[in-house]
Amino acid sequence: MGGLQSEARAGRRRSWILRHSAIVRVTHWINFLCLAVLLMSGLQIFNAHSALYWGQASDFPHPLLAMDARPDQQGALRGVTTVLGHDFDTTGVLGLSYVLGFGERERGFPAWATLPGMQWLAMGRRWHFFFAWIFIINGLVYLTSGLASGHFRRDLLPTGEQLRHIGGAIWDHLRLRFPKGEEARRYNVLQKLAYLAVVFLILPAIALAGMTMSPNLDSIAPQLVILFGGRQSARTIHFLLAAALVTFFLVHVLMVLLSGVWNNMRSMTSGWYRIEHTEDVDDRTA
Ligand code: HEM
Ligand code: HEM
Repeated sequence: MGGLQSEARAGRRRSWILRHSAIVRVTHWINFLCLAVLLMSGLQIFNAHSALYWGQASDFPHPLLAMDARPDQQGALRGVTTVLGHDFDTTGVLGLSYVLGFGERERGFPAWATLPGMQWLAMGRRWHFFFAWIFIINGLVYLTSGLASGHFRRDLLPTGEQLRHIGGAIWDHLRLRFPKGEEARRYNVLQKLAYLAVVFLILPAIALAGMTMSPNLDSIAPQLVILFGGRQSARTIHFLLAAALVTFFLVHVLMVLLSGVWNNMRSMTSGWYRIEHTEDVDDRTA
């Protein structure tokens, strides 16, 4: 990231840098495709038993989270989501929703959020496990190339200077003021910390929790079950990490939209990113 390809042209007050290597760009979009399929097929799998527990075994009367359909006082079915013993009416989205051609159906997540749309556990698992392999291979390519090229140290690790001014960066972010000129050459400190957390914490942890749910892998590495505190805990952690990824995704895409959608999308597809210079930088580079 940040390889300067052309100097600011006098009077134009802008320059172009090659912001992302081809490997980062290709693996980023393959990863996005994998995560979308993994999430939607995962929600299909969740629907087969739409409740989560903690520990080794399912404690049916005490789920941490459950989605089901129950009749109300008039006898009409309502979708109910139970979180830590508290019930919420989520009719139409969670617990009870409309499925094209079938009408109102009792199901955890709605048809539009699952892959495939209809209830079909076996197919959901096929999609999930196939894309889990692509996700792992793609992730290994990204990690190996990032380590070999110094990308993580150079571009994702915050500098001491950035960490010292993190308060200012948060304040700027809240006011939607994004870096310009020289500062825009690199990721800002919040971006770096978010990417580090996703790349080195959330994604490896979700893969490990997924592997913990596989009885075959458990017999090869029983430590996995101990690490996650049981197979039901691993399932709950896997689900919560998926929710954390959705949250990251929403903020990430919002920031991409707010901080210059075309510039960002151009840089993540072709690599080229436009830097708008401030007056004093122009004076130095012109
Ligand atoms: C290497 C990566 C992954 C592996 C090995 C993996 C494995 C698994 C397994 C074994 C299950 C339970 C299957 C079953 O009970 O039949 C599962 C469920 C699920 N996965 Fe993944 N997964 C991976 C990545 C992901 C990612 C990245 C997401 C989200 C973006 C995700 C979301 C889900 C969800 C929401 C469920 C349903 C939870 C449940 O009810 O068990 N998975 N996954
Ligand atoms: C859950 C899905 C996604 C994940 C986990 C993710 C993760 C990441 C990560 C880790 C980086 C830094 C890559 C590096 O330098 O090594 C990044 C950069 C970027 N992502 Fe995503 N991304 C996701 C979806 C998207 C989507 C849907 C868009 C487009 C709307 C997008 C647009 C971008 C852009 C433009 C950058 C470069 C930002 C910059 O140059 O300042 N990402 N993403």
